[in-house]
Amino acid sequence: MAVPHLSLLTFALLFIQLSSSSGGKILVFPLDGSHWVNMKILVEELHAKGHKLEIRVQDKPSSFWSHAWSRFQIQRVLVNQFYQFHKRMSEMVVQMFEDENLMRSLHDAKYDVVLTDPGIGGGAILAHRLQVPLVFNVRWTIQGEAHLLIAPSPLAYIPFTATELTDRMTFTQRIKNVISYTIGMYTLSYMTEPHYKPVVRRYFGPDVDYLTFFVDADIWLMRNDFVFEFPRPTMPNIVYMGGFQCKPPKPLPEDLEEFVQSSGDHGVIVMTLGTLVGKLPQDIAEEIAAAFAQLPQKVIWRYMGHRPASLGNNTLMVSWLPQNDLLGHPKTRVFVTHGGTNGIQEAIYHGVPVVGLPLFFDQPDNLSRIRAKGGAVIVDIAMLDRHIFADALMTVLYNSSYKENMQMLSRLHRDQPMKPLDQAVFWIEYVIRHKGARHLQTHANKMSWFVYNSIDVIAALVTVVLLITFTCISIVRLLWRMIFVGKRVKQE
Ligand SMILES: *[C@@H]1O[C@H](CO)[C@@H](O)[C@H](O)[C@H]1NC(C)=O
Ligand SMILES: *[C@@H]1O[C@H](CO)[C@@H](O)[C@H](O)[C@H]1NC(C)=O
Ligand SMILES: *[C@@H]1O[C@H](CO)[C@@H](O)[C@H](O)[C@H]1NC(C)=O
Repeated sequence: MAVPHLSLLTFALLFIQLSSSSGGKILVFPLDGSHWVNMKILVEELHAKGHKLEIRVQDKPSSFWSHAWSRFQIQRVLVNQFYQFHKRMSEMVVQMFEDENLMRSLHDAKYDVVLTDPGIGGGAILAHRLQVPLVFNVRWTIQGEAHLLIAPSPLAYIPFTATELTDRMTFTQRIKNVISYTIGMYTLSYMTEPHYKPVVRRYFGPDVDYLTFFVDADIWLMRNDFVFEFPRPTMPNIVYMGGFQCKPPKPLPEDLEEFVQSSGDHGVIVMTLGTLVGKLPQDIAEEIAAAFAQLPQKVIWRYMGHRPASLGNNTLMVSWLPQNDLLGHPKTRVFVTHGGTNGIQEAIYHGVPVVGLPLFFDQPDNLSRIRAKGGAVIVDIAMLDRHIFADALMTVLYNSSYKENMQMLSRLHRDQPMKPLDQAVFWIEYVIRHKGARHLQTHANKMSWFVYNSIDVIAALVTVVLLITFTCISIVRLLWRMIFVGKRVKQE
């Protein structure tokens, strides 16, 4: 195996020592970038509860932006990026396992639990190596949407990722769903299998399937819930913590509050496309700015690119905005988002209707779920011009059904016996207290496909039925012949 770059292996070890000794010892193996944002919230809460955490920081997946606007090209760039990412990750795992001192120190630390995001392979493999219970903070595994790996997922009503389908599909949509699933699963295994399989074979033996490392997790803290997701089968070790990052708003900085108040009854529009996409091609930015300039609302737009010439005096361009506090502000009327991490959950939490500009990953799906629930209008960024965008904004601003639907989702989301974050922390502590949660794991993971689908049972039963039928026919034939032959003998 090639020697990985050293820069990859700058394991910045971060010890957070705590005076309280009541808590457990948790090894956190996070994904960087936007996923770290999620992990950080959990980590901070666990820290506050007196747990001792050790965090393994790795390199950032490089952020990028390409001017290739077609979905297909974006998809291709992404597949390549992920391929490289998993390659580096598997090399890092090898490097880690080969470092005897590091492995010994990790063993000796006697962790109670490993907390990781299975969007990368490293954490689950490390937990298995250390024989430590495993908790996932998850939406994606390296093998796609997390449910697909452990819960029954009939394709008749479970739309595959990025198809933008709902749970009500026509015949042609179901064809699309099955084809997307087949191609999608193939692509995913193309990106991950060549990298993780050899590593697992090398350290755990030839009979070990690398996927079992993932399905073996004790608890799946799913960044999702059924206010957002379509109803589907689940498993007892899946804990839904969608919206765990949402909090009541804090007061805005003074200048921002002043700007928001200046909007009067028209209110404000908040727009951000996340951290991965700081800039848009200039022509698209111009169209967006021009659409905003037509409106009587005030606009707060997080944007790092060149200032568009068509920017109206109602639009404030900022390089950062307090998203949660703004969405919770009573003057906020619409949220323009790409549908990425946290944005949608925060919009649901605060009941703010959405204009979606999805870019890639699962963002189109995220938004199409909100659209299906009547809380969003989606604009295809490849088709976007000032009229289309302004139309979408006005629809959401002036047709009250969008706001009503989002507020309904908000009420449903908030009506839970336990806050999602408390629920997540409870289950991590539960795993620490009971040294895992094996009893919640389905045995289905350990079955071969023909046992799982009862192919062997059906085959056996069909054989029995055939045998009985055959025997009956033979007996009847025999009897008939005896009678017939007997008669003939008598007659003679
Ligand atoms: C903002 O622009 C509009 C029209 O472009 C103009 O009527 C208005 O006076 C301007 N407001 C300020 C404060 O400059
Ligand atoms: C939407 O997509 C992003 C990735 O692009 C994901 O991290 C996030 O969890 C999704 N949002 C929801 C509400 O599931
Ligand atoms: C508002 O939008 C909903 C959903 O798209 C639509 O059914 C309804 O007719 C619209 N209402 C008005 C007044 O346009």
